[in-house]
Amino acid sequence: MLIQSGIDFNIPFKVLDPDASAPCSSLCNFTSGKLTDYDTVLAFGKQCDVITIEIENVNTIALKELAKQGKRVFPQPEVIELIQDKRTQKIFFKDCGIPTADFILTENAEDVKHNKAFLPAVNKLGREGYDGRGVQVIKTEADLSKAFDAPGLLEKLIPFEKEISVIVARNIKGEVKTYPAVEMVFHPVHNLVEYLFSPAEITEAVALEADKIARKVIHDLDMVGILAVEMFVTKDGKVLVNEVAPRPHNSGHQTIEANVTSQYEQHLRSVLGLPLGDTSIILPSAMVNLLGEAGHTGAARYEGFEEVVKVSGVHVHLYGKQFTKPFRKMGHVTIVDSDIDSLRKKVDFVKQTLKVIA
Ligand SMILES: Nc1ncnc2c1ncn2[C@@H]1O[C@H](COP(=O)(O)OP(=O)(O)OP(=O)(O)O)[C@@H](O)[C@H]1O
Ligand SMILES: [Mg+2]
Repeated sequence: MLIQSGIDFNIPFKVLDPDASAPCSSLCNFTSGKLTDYDTVLAFGKQCDVITIEIENVNTIALKELAKQGKRVFPQPEVIELIQDKRTQKIFFKDCGIPTADFILTENAEDVKHNKAFLPAVNKLGREGYDGRGVQVIKTEADLSKAFDAPGLLEKLIPFEKEISVIVARNIKGEVKTYPAVEMVFHPVHNLVEYLFSPAEITEAVALEADKIARKVIHDLDMVGILAVEMFVTKDGKVLVNEVAPRPHNSGHQTIEANVTSQYEQHLRSVLGLPLGDTSIILPSAMVNLLGEAGHTGAARYEGFEEVVKVSGVHVHLYGKQFTKPFRKMGHVTIVDSDIDSLRKKVDFVKQTLKVIA
C-alpha cells in the first residue's frame, strides 16, 4: 500500500523482506533477507537514499550505522528501539507524563505470581509480542498460571468503554498533523482488530484530549514519520495511551478511501520532508480485517467477492498472500457511507459474505 502511494510521487522502491514470496516481491526491486541481521540490513540500506521501516522487529544497530553514514532513516532507529520493548515504552510514557495504565515490571512468571495484589491485570511480554500474542489477561489468582515466563510487565486491567486510535504524522521541519480518532472493535477471542469505525463516536472533549495526547507523544519521541497511538477511553471520559506503533497502521487503512490524504501518502510526505496533507474525513467509513477462515489452510480462495464489490461504497484490498490459514490477515475491506446505520449493515453483510477459504 505504501508502494501504491509512492507510485503517484514517482518514487522507486527497494524492499527487504524475509519472505521470498512477499506480496510486494513482484512490484518493486525486491531483496529477500533477514531484517534482524546486521549485515543484511546494512548492505540493503546502503543502496537507498531514504530508509523507512514497517515492522519493529528490525536490526536497529544497522539502522543507526546507516544514519551515521548520512542516510535518512525514519522513523529514527532510537524510536524503534524504544518501542520494540513494551517495558521501555511504558517507562517513557510515565517519564513524560503521558497518561497510561499503572504498571510494574516483571522478570518471569514467578514474579507475576508474587504480585497478586496488583490483579486484575494484563501481563505483557516486553519484546516480540504482536497481534495480541504477547498479551494475557490475569483477572484472578486462578489465571496466574497464564503468566509469561519472560521479562514483561503487569499492567492494571482498564475496564475501558472504548478503544480508539489517533494517527499522527510529523515531518523533519516539525510540522505535525493528526487524523480524527477512529474506534476499534476487537475480536473477543483472537485479540485482533475485528472492525473499525471512523470517526469514533466520542465526545468533543475526548476527541480533543486524544488529539492533544497523540501530538505530545510524537513530539516527546522527537519522531519523524507516521505514528499510531492506541488509546483507551474510560467510562469517566479519561484517555490513557495503551501503546504506539511507528508506521502505517491497521487503524489507518480506511484513510485510503475515506480521508483526503491516506496514511501511506502522509507517511511518505513526512519521511521525504514534504508538507503534510489534509487529514479530513471525506465520508464516514468502516474497515473490516479479512482473516483466514477457521478450519481452512492452503491456497487461498475468496468466496463472496463479487457479491460484496457489488455493494456501493465497498472497496476490497487483497494482500496477495498465496496461502491462507486460520486468522491470518489476508486483506481488508473499507466501506464508506454517509449514513451510519447503512454503514453498519454493510459491515455485517461483508463479514458474513466475504470469506477466505482454502
Ligand atoms: N491494560 C489493559 N486493560 C484492558 N485491556 C487491555 C490492556 N492492555 C491491553 N488490553 C487489550 O488487549 C489488546 C492488545 O494489547 P496490546 O495492544 O498491548 O497488544 P499487541 O499485541 O501489541 O496488539 P496489536 O499488535 O494488535 O496492537 C488491546 O487492544 C486491548 O483490547
Ligand atoms: Mg495494540
